[in-house]
Amino acid sequence: MGFPYPSDPRETVLLSKYFGDAGARSYTGWTERGGYEGVKTALGMAPEAVVEEMKASGLRGRGGAGFPTGLKWSLMPKKADKPHYLVCNADESEPGTFKDREIMRWTPHALIEGCLIAAHAIRAERIYIYIRGEYTEPLAIMERAVAEAYANGAAGENVFGSGTRIDVTLHRGAGAYICGEETAMLNSLEGKRGNPRIKPPYPAQAGVFGLPTTINNVETLAAVPHIMVRGAAWYKSLSLSNPKSTGTKLISVCGHVARPGNYEVTMGTPMRELIYDMCGGMRPGRTLKAVIPGGSSVPIMNAEEADRCLLDYEGVVAAGSMLGSAGMIVMDDSTDMVRAIWRLAKFYAHESCAQCTQCREGTAWTTKILERILAGLGKESDLQLLLDLSENMTGKTICVLSDSCAAPIVSGIQKFRGEFDAYLAKARTPAMATA
Ligand SMILES: Cc1cc2nc3c(=O)[nH]c(=O)nc-3n(C[C@H](O)[C@H](O)[C@H](O)COP(=O)(O)O)c2cc1C
Repeated sequence: MGFPYPSDPRETVLLSKYFGDAGARSYTGWTERGGYEGVKTALGMAPEAVVEEMKASGLRGRGGAGFPTGLKWSLMPKKADKPHYLVCNADESEPGTFKDREIMRWTPHALIEGCLIAAHAIRAERIYIYIRGEYTEPLAIMERAVAEAYANGAAGENVFGSGTRIDVTLHRGAGAYICGEETAMLNSLEGKRGNPRIKPPYPAQAGVFGLPTTINNVETLAAVPHIMVRGAAWYKSLSLSNPKSTGTKLISVCGHVARPGNYEVTMGTPMRELIYDMCGGMRPGRTLKAVIPGGSSVPIMNAEEADRCLLDYEGVVAAGSMLGSAGMIVMDDSTDMVRAIWRLAKFYAHESCAQCTQCREGTAWTTKILERILAGLGKESDLQLLLDLSENMTGKTICVLSDSCAAPIVSGIQKFRGEFDAYLAKARTPAMATA
């Protein structure tokens, strides 16, 4: 796991190998640890060959949707008759997710190298790294690393003497969750309000400044140099479950476990092993009640589902949720599920960009209804109303922020109905009867 805890022997430390090692932050320190070899290999290959290598590795986007990375790169136009761009999504605002932050803090050159390889593959002349506004320390570290990359010929007009020009620009966000959605991010980069765009056109056709653009998450890009150095077949072999989920995954574990933190595991590792062996289990005297495995935007799992869940894209779906960004929020038996779900809904209501009616109204009304249930003023019909609103918030909007609000509400009512009923029963009981 790296800082502040040593790695667990059950982890597969690839991206996190140098977490906690301040010597890996500098350009010299990074090259001493084998850094920048992957980009040199890539620059000697045709862009199409790099794309094929990514396809063969099975790497899928670590930002949330799990879209195959090689396939995404292949959607960019083959001719570079106009500028192409790579945007690195370092916004990391998903509740419970804190892995990209550590990649930037400890191994900034790994990210720059991954970006350079991707830029070569998609023929991009400029990389924008869009960093979450609150990430002041990662930003400062990235600024130093970018300056060092330029000073050492790893970025700029002639990357490692290849004759290829690739520039790197860091862009600081201003603290809006919605700017993590890729098309909102493109608008924000252009200096506009961070509202998601209607698709099509997709970013590969018309992205930032209307030009072909690929957007990838920090962790996705940090995995790329390893694939270039050790090969697609090696990366693909890193899987305990199925060939559709390959490589390692950084899981940010927070909540009621003994040792929260980032853990890097091979795809297919049982969630049980992560919670009980690596994280030291639940806090003393407590039992597991629920897990939200993918950042807060996915369905809640109960203890039985968590117990049989394999940590990969298909395994988490089979256990009733989604891997998402793999920010795992673990809750023990002391958790009031109705309160936890209300807190999430309040977050989405605050972060909605308000473009779509279903999202603007739905996130606000679900929050208000949950508030009245918590206050002991809920009505019998409120649960059906929450489900109806959630239905209207799912699959009907420009982006999936409102779906993300609905997911914990619907799964929470389905799986923890008794807790909602207990609040509603309180509302039905006259004050005299309880006195
Ligand atoms: C509301 C919302 C917020 C998002 N926030 C992030 C984020 O903070 N970081 C991220 O990488 N992806 C985020 N995404 C997903 C991105 O839109 C996009 O799918 C991702 O950056 C693509 O990179 P990948 O293919 O490497 O995963 C968000 C999506 C939505 C709908």
